[in-house]
Amino acid sequence: MSHRKLLIVAHTPSPNTSILAEAIFDGTKTAEIGSVKSTLVSPFDCNAEMVLESDALILFTTENFGYMSGALKDFFERIYYPCLEQPDKNEATPFALVIRAGLDGTGTDIAVHKITSGLKWREVHETLICKGDFKDEFIAQCETLGLTIAASLDNDIF
Ligand SMILES: Cc1cc2nc3c(=O)[nH]c(=O)nc-3n(C[C@H](O)[C@H](O)[C@H](O)COP(=O)(O)O)c2cc1C
Repeated sequence: MSHRKLLIVAHTPSPNTSILAEAIFDGTKTAEIGSVKSTLVSPFDCNAEMVLESDALILFTTENFGYMSGALKDFFERIYYPCLEQPDKNEATPFALVIRAGLDGTGTDIAVHKITSGLKWREVHETLICKGDFKDEFIAQCETLGLTIAASLDNDIF
């Protein structure tokens, strides 16, 4: 069976956010998910070609100043038109969004969805917002989300 590519684009400016991104990654790598090859990358190291080659995406960002991180915004600014220029590879790309927010997260949720709507991507999981003081339960939630997306990709559910 050919590999299905799952790309996790994660901005991790703190120890807690690194733990959450790794938890998503661990979830996607669970042993039973045979056909899925997942990759964890910083938005700064990700380009349109990597997105277009992927079968699904998980986006992870902090909320800063009521908006997505500058890192994720920079990523979107670089990939937006190159992705739209290749509709066969780009349109309906399945994606899920995870937000780590100290207080809120809704500004980021709205802002990311405006861009993913413009990109014509297809959301396959409701946004996971890990908000407030850091809690261990965030780790399990992130791991479960990674597992869910990878298992769905493995089973051709998207
Ligand atoms: C410059 C800056 C701006 C921030 N703005 C917001 C904000 O508008 N809303 C919010 O919920 N959290 C905000 N935060 C908190 C971050 O989302 C939080 O620190 C980040 O997700 C890392 O989480 P951690 O403290 O558990 O490592 C901000 C943090 C920084 C450094």
